[in-house]
This record gives sequence, structure tokens and C-alpha cells, in this order.
Amino acid sequence: MITKFPPCSIQLLYSMVGNMTEPNLILIVDDNTTSARLLFDVLEKAGYQPSIAKNGEEALHQLETVSPDLILLDVIMPGIDGFEICDRIKSNPKTKDIPLIFMSALSNVDDKAKGLKLGAVDYITKPFQQEEVLARVQIHLKLRQQTRQLKELNEQLEQRVAERTAQLSRSLNELQAAQLQLIQQEKMSTLGQLVSGIGHEINNPLNSIAGNIAHAEQYVQDLISHLQLYQRYYPDPVSEIVQDAEEISLPFLTTDLAKLLNTMKVAADRITHISRSLRTFSRSDHENTIELQIQDGLDSTLLLLQHRLKANSHRPAIQIVRDYAELPSIACFPGQLNQVFMNLLANAIDAIEESNRDKTYAEILENPNQIYVETELKDNSIAIRIRDNGIGMTETVQQEIFKPSFTTKPVGKGTGLGLAIAHQIIVEKHGGSLICNSAPGKGTEFTIELPL
Ligand SMILES: Nc1ncnc2c1ncn2[C@@H]1O[C@H](COP(=O)(O)OP(=O)(O)O)[C@@H](O)[C@H]1O
Ligand SMILES: [Mg+2]
Repeated sequence: MITKFPPCSIQLLYSMVGNMTEPNLILIVDDNTTSARLLFDVLEKAGYQPSIAKNGEEALHQLETVSPDLILLDVIMPGIDGFEICDRIKSNPKTKDIPLIFMSALSNVDDKAKGLKLGAVDYITKPFQQEEVLARVQIHLKLRQQTRQLKELNEQLEQRVAERTAQLSRSLNELQAAQLQLIQQEKMSTLGQLVSGIGHEINNPLNSIAGNIAHAEQYVQDLISHLQLYQRYYPDPVSEIVQDAEEISLPFLTTDLAKLLNTMKVAADRITHISRSLRTFSRSDHENTIELQIQDGLDSTLLLLQHRLKANSHRPAIQIVRDYAELPSIACFPGQLNQVFMNLLANAIDAIEESNRDKTYAEILENPNQIYVETELKDNSIAIRIRDNGIGMTETVQQEIFKPSFTTKPVGKGTGLGLAIAHQIIVEKHGGSLICNSAPGKGTEFTIELPL
């Protein structure tokens, strides 16, 4: 059997809304029972799910428990009038998004404007045409649905943007970390090769000097004894010998020669020490960790910084106070760890120099520049503390110091990479921690903790 719909617009609207999966809830607020009933029937027939509130109080009461998709609101009612209800609905966050259509016999332009201003989406003049009511209801329900979809889409989009941004900043961090590691590896391998090359080259001539000084000392001693033998058995030499002995100040020469040789021996020992430190410092890092005595790393680094610590015309020498605990040797990448010590100690010296800027030599002497280097054995870790009484840092600066390229030093002096590299080496390469504690004008302490 073929059902033929009459070519009526209401029927068309009915068939359109009839396709919707869930019927839309529509609240009719009208004190006129006949008019409300009529509207109810039209909407129900069109496939909606209407309900009626006979006055404002009842409407507000219903709205506490149900959330309609649309409200049709009469303006003139006993008790709370339509405008007042509209105002309350719009100022309640729970109901403010429900589209609201005014219905009134008034065709007064002012009332329409007032209703729309209060947040109504439309205005229907009574007595209403069924087609008009259904068309308007449908449009606003559709608008409402689309607004919802738009809002959802927008939220999804925002979430996706947030996810993407987080992902990008993670990638950027990883990239920066990788870049740092590259710089650090590159620097260490060139520097390490250079330093160990020098250490190696110095070694042979140094061994030759140090080894021969001992022989030279012995030979000189023998020659002097021999000379003394001559003097004992030939107390009256010819005048030429007497004159020559006077010219060369023979007694002074013989005593001073021994001292001189001793000084040379001390100097050679010192060079040997420096050369050994250079090699300790630059111990090229392999794939695997090597056992290191932390103390050796600290001492060799301090020795290499000696030229910056010693006294100059502006200030006395910076005092190094060592407080080393008995530590077991630990498995680590010594070249990298020494670079961390180097970065922290160089920063400490910079901070001290900075704090000396407005002080006189006497003032510095009174409150001497100091760097404490301490180690401590803890339960499952070792702590290394490097503390200076330099310029210190503000809270704001402290938040930034581990970021690559952050520096407060003039161009050409600071690169801002020292602490970023140090942080990476300690935290990522050694699974430890690097913490800064500082106050402006007081000084700074960096604590490295390495797991055992
Ligand atoms: N011991 C310290 N005392 C005061 N400020 C410090 C100290 N160590 C680091 N800083 C601050 O941290 C910044 C970053 O240090 P770093 O990464 O080593 O880069 P750079 O030394 O090249 O500036 C420095 O510019 C300085 O402001
Ligand atoms: Mg630095």
C-alpha cells in the first residue's frame, strides 16, 4: 500500500522531525491552558516531547530536574512574568544555554526588543500559526545542536592543539638535549685529544729531565768532593787558580749549586704532577664507565684552574677549602664528570670576581674569597658540594640556569651552556642530581649527588 501525504507544509515538517533519533524535550510555559494544550498537541504530533508548566514558579521548579532542549515562554503570566523567568534562566549557568522563544499576544516592538536583549533567541506572536511555530522550533533546535557540535569540535581541536604543543615541546627538549650532548662530546673529544696529546708529548722530555737531575746531583756532589780533596792536599795553588776561584766565588757557587739543583727537581716534580692531572682530567670516555676516585677528579680540575685562583694585583689568592670524606671509587665517565667540576668551579670563580668588583684589596682581605669543595658518603650515594661566597643569584635567575644558552655574562664571556651540560651529564648520563642553593650577595652552593 502506498501512503500519499497531502502536499501540506506541516506534514513535511512532521516527517522531517520524525526522523530524529531522540525526541527533543520542549518546555511550554503558559498560564493559558487552552493555548498550552494546543501547542502541546502540535509539538507532540511533530515528534517532540513537550511538557507544560502553568506558571513561572512551576517552570523554574521543573528546570531544577530536567534540562529541555528548548523553552517556549509566555510573557504575561500571573506571579513571575516571562521577562523575569527569562532573566533567571539566563543567569543560571545550568540553564543559560537553553534556547528560549517568547510567545505573547503583544506585538509591541519594545517587548520584542526587551525579550531579545534578555537572551531570548526568537519571538512568536499569538495567536500563532502552527507552521510558523514548528519552523521556528526546528530552526532553533538545529542551531542549538550545531552550536553544541561546534563547541565539542572546538574542545577537541583545543585538546589536539594542546597535545601537539606538548609533543612539539617534548621534541624540542629532546633535540636541545641531543644537540648539547653533541657539543659536549665534540668539545670533549677535541679538547681531550689536545690535552692528552700535550700530556703525552711533555712526558718523555720531562722524564728525561727528572731522571737526569738525580744523576746531575750525584755528579756535582762527586765533583765538589773531588775539588775539596784538591784543596786539602794542595792548599797553596798557583795564583791563577786563586784568582779564578775568587772570580767565580767558589764557596758560594758550591753551596748554591746544590740548592739550584733541588729547585729544578721540585719544578720537574710539579710539571710531572700537572701532566698527570692533564691526563686524569682528559681521560677519554669510553662506551662503558670507568672507576674513578672523585677526589682525583676534583684535585686535577683545581690544579688546572690554578692560574685563575692565584693572587693578582686586585685581590689575594682565592682560598680553596677542601673537606674530603673517605669515598669508594665510583663507576662513571671521568672526562665528563671532570668537565662538570670544571664548569662549576669556573662559575664559582666568575661569581667571586663579580662580587669583588666594588671592593678594595683590603676589604677582600678582611672577608676572603673562598671556595669550599666537600664530599660526603651517604647511604646509597655520594654528595659533592661546591660552595662559593661570590655574588649569588636571585630566585628568578636560579629558575633559568639549567636552560641552554641562559647567561648573565657579557657576550664573549658566557655561553650559557656550562650548567645545561653539567645537568645533562649528572642527571641523564649518571642518574644523579644537581641542585643549586643560592642567595644574592651571600653565595652559591651546588650539590651533586651520584648513586653508588
Ligand atoms: N656559582 C654561581 N654564582 C652565581 N651565579 C651563577 C653561578 N653559577 C652559575 N651562575 C649563573 O648561571 C648562569 C649560567 O651559567 P652557565 O650555564 O655556566 O653559563 P655561563 O657561565 O656561560 O654564563 C650564569 O650566567 C650565572 O648567571
Ligand atoms: Mg659557566
